[in-house]
Amino acid sequence: MTEKARAELLADVLSRYEDSPNPRLREITEAAIRHLHAFAEEVNLQRDEWLAGIQFLTAAGQKCDDTRQEFILLSDTLGVSSLVEMLTHDGVEGSTENTVLGPFYVPGSPQRAKGESMLVDPDDGDRVVIRGTVTDIDHEPIAGATLDCWQNATAGFYAVQQPGEQSAENLRGVYSTDADGSYEIRTVRPVPYPIPSDGPAGDLLKAHGRNWMRPGHTHMWVRADGYKELITHVFDNETEYLRDDAVFGVRDSLIRRFEPDAAGELATTFDIVLDRA
Ligand code: BEZ
Ligand code: FE
Repeated sequence: MTEKARAELLADVLSRYEDSPNPRLREITEAAIRHLHAFAEEVNLQRDEWLAGIQFLTAAGQKCDDTRQEFILLSDTLGVSSLVEMLTHDGVEGSTENTVLGPFYVPGSPQRAKGESMLVDPDDGDRVVIRGTVTDIDHEPIAGATLDCWQNATAGFYAVQQPGEQSAENLRGVYSTDADGSYEIRTVRPVPYPIPSDGPAGDLLKAHGRNWMRPGHTHMWVRADGYKELITHVFDNETEYLRDDAVFGVRDSLIRRFEPDAAGELATTFDIVLDRA
């Protein structure tokens, strides 16, 4: 087929969306069509290859269930989740950066007192403290902000991945800030861990010789009335894979050094700045 025929095909397809009643859906659909056609053109996509792609996406769908979302893993490992986070976060200069949510967040974590450990089960890891303040962009403390935290155990898995082996509340906790905006979390030093690789997203990583590891981090979902929610991580500056995160979630501004504090505990400071809603 000539280039002209292919251009006419694309124009014909796009014209069918002209009367769409939903402008945003139309914009997204038309852009997806244009980019899909351009992609097929660029690689001179052949029928058997397109079928292999369709079978890959079918297998991804079949891998999904209530606790496994293969399409999110695929989006994560292709860097699209990270890009969408960047586009979504229109934070003003100086506010804390966001990063990917990941699949292991479970709502309903126990409320924990300031300084309490969120470690419930036995664990060989180093004990650490993460402390800081939650403020607005003008350095005004935000009292009563909540920090919903979750982290993998030193064995490499989140509690939600190991029901029966880990307590459901292990390494999960909701902390609140004091009147001066301060908070304090005790946990284990986060270690690198593998993202689920036993499905099509993992197969694609392996086919390209990529790893499926994430650098050690603690997740936080910070909420306060009148402020934009912040979904972020704290990364350990000594952890492996900081420059080769399987899901492209590392932001330099979120990397912290753990050092002994005055009481001899391994600690780091992570001050959080929220944007007004
Ligand atoms: C996580 O950090 O929990 C995560 C993020 C993306 C994919 C898999 C895991
Ligand atoms: Fe994680």
